Amino acid sequence: MSSTPARQFALQGAAVILVLSLAWPYYGWTAEAMPWRQTSLLIGAVALALATISRQPWWWRLIHALFMPAVWTTYTLAIPPGWFLLGFVLLLLVYRGALSGQVPLYLSNRETVAALDELIGKEECERIVDLGAGVGSTMIPLADRWPDKHFTGAENAPLTWLAGLVLGVGRPNLHWRWEDLWQMPLADYDLVYAFLSPVPMPKLWEKARAEMRPGSLFVSNSFPVPGIAPDFVIDVACTPPRPLYCYRI
Ligand SMILES: C[S@@+](CC[C@H](N)C(=O)[O-])C[C@H]1O[C@@H](n2cnc3c(N)ncnc32)[C@H](O)[C@@H]1O
Repeated sequence: MSSTPARQFALQGAAVILVLSLAWPYYGWTAEAMPWRQTSLLIGAVALALATISRQPWWWRLIHALFMPAVWTTYTLAIPPGWFLLGFVLLLLVYRGALSGQVPLYLSNRETVAALDELIGKEECERIVDLGAGVGSTMIPLADRWPDKHFTGAENAPLTWLAGLVLGVGRPNLHWRWEDLWQMPLADYDLVYAFLSPVPMPKLWEKARAEMRPGSLFVSNSFPVPGIAPDFVIDVACTPPRPLYCYRI
């Protein structure tokens, strides 16, 4: 099984099936009520064992151990179902990218913004775009720092885009677009910045190579393009490390 979410789903599912296929007949046979609290704890323990045997990272093991007990605890709280729907909709409005392209929201830090600031000065870039621009924590400070340069942020999660729109208001050199990054034409930009995830990098590199002008710069925060050596790497001084992989087109 190739994808991590599918593998984890299968592990948790196996634990549920294993425990229930023994517990249900047993309690049916003895005509006793199923003890759901203990059952959920047992499913957690079996899921933890399966995750450990199959050498999943520690955070997945923790998630497997706690998932079913958390489901049971939440059930006992008898929360009206509308709240779950509201929570789901809010998460979707912010984390749309995680669902559609395995790119969640997390923000570039100040050190990265400072490194980009220096790079923009060195490269004498005029037009800069952030593909998957989040709430604007990269483009907004850079737009303030360079009032004569043009900055574009493309973001497709509605609530995240709205937050960026509000935070970036009053900056004529900032173009804040509700746009799918795959639909963004890249030919106009001197520097294309992306902070996404390992998943889209091969496809994004193909897009960059096909559309960006010769001499322009593609910069990926943290996630290199597999199989392609960057022209240079900027080691941003921060923890955890967030190198900027820079590819000259
Ligand atoms: C890791 S965050 C980076 C945010 C920002 N670039 C920064 O450096 O602070 C990635 C962002 O990409 C957005 N995203 C994911 N897929 C996208 C797509 N297809 N089109 C536009 N934005 C997308 C997510 O919603 C998320 O806000």
